[in-house]
Amino acid sequence: MPMQFRALTTHIGAEVEGIDLHEPLSSAQAEEIHAAMDRYAVLVFHDQPLTNEQHLAFTSVLGPLENTANILRTAADFRLPPVFADVSNLDGRNQPYGAEDRRRLFAIGNRLWHSDSSFKAIPAKYSLLRAVRIPSKGGNTEFAHMGAAYEALDDETKALIEDLVCEHSQLFSRESVGFTDFTPEERECLKPVRQRLVRTLPRTGRKSIYLSSHAGTIAGWPLPEARLLLRDLTEHATQREFVYSHPWRIDDLVMWDNRQTMHRGRPFPAKEARDVRRTTIGGDAPTVEQAIAA
Ligand code: OGA
Ligand code: MN
Repeated sequence: MPMQFRALTTHIGAEVEGIDLHEPLSSAQAEEIHAAMDRYAVLVFHDQPLTNEQHLAFTSVLGPLENTANILRTAADFRLPPVFADVSNLDGRNQPYGAEDRRRLFAIGNRLWHSDSSFKAIPAKYSLLRAVRIPSKGGNTEFAHMGAAYEALDDETKALIEDLVCEHSQLFSRESVGFTDFTPEERECLKPVRQRLVRTLPRTGRKSIYLSSHAGTIAGWPLPEARLLLRDLTEHATQREFVYSHPWRIDDLVMWDNRQTMHRGRPFPAKEARDVRRTTIGGDAPTVEQAIAA
């Protein structure tokens, strides 16, 4: 059966039917998924009760895995093969972290709009998040389309931001919510990297605003002015018309393109378990090396 894509909103997201993610993916199917990612930026697959291995196998067909170490999780916290990002609120014994736990407070930085691993010199391409346990309420993940947001900017703003370069670090995103107790070693690991503010999606030529809560400076700009421009752009880009809010069901797998979206988690009761597991596909080059679009 061929795959069917049903658009979820005007600008972003589609539900996919007619595919069983347990089955090996053909190269024709993989190409169909890449084309759908270019077009919809977020794909939702329901009723896919995968094992971690099956989740990894599906991911690997679409591109090389990115290793996503969380600097605060230690070996005792590992519930998953190390290549997974454990996006749950659970410790190594499957218990929710306490409300004041530093690991929980660091992790809820994911509730700020961001693009995965924009704090790495070569940031992520796709993320694939699978729901194993979900809370009784809340905990949606929201996605905003940065290509549609770019197109809605006025020409003056497009010209202003065209060649700007930002610095991204998890220090900036965490400091913006008052999480500042990093050790000198952690700070060393979190050194900022440079990213273009306007990206071009290679296969389509579509431009997008590369925003993320990790962005904290603009090269050559005074800091308060840089922060305010980033804040204004984020406010613009996350208006409801550009957003899809995903209400999770168990066994959903949601896949998004970090090059043309931002996402954020929404709050849920801290005492309840929310077990979501992510694989990530790496990008191919630093954004600052992006070829100037013809
Ligand atoms: C992620 C992420 C948000 C959420 O998996 O990268 O930011 O809702 N998740 O868990
Ligand atoms: Mn994320």
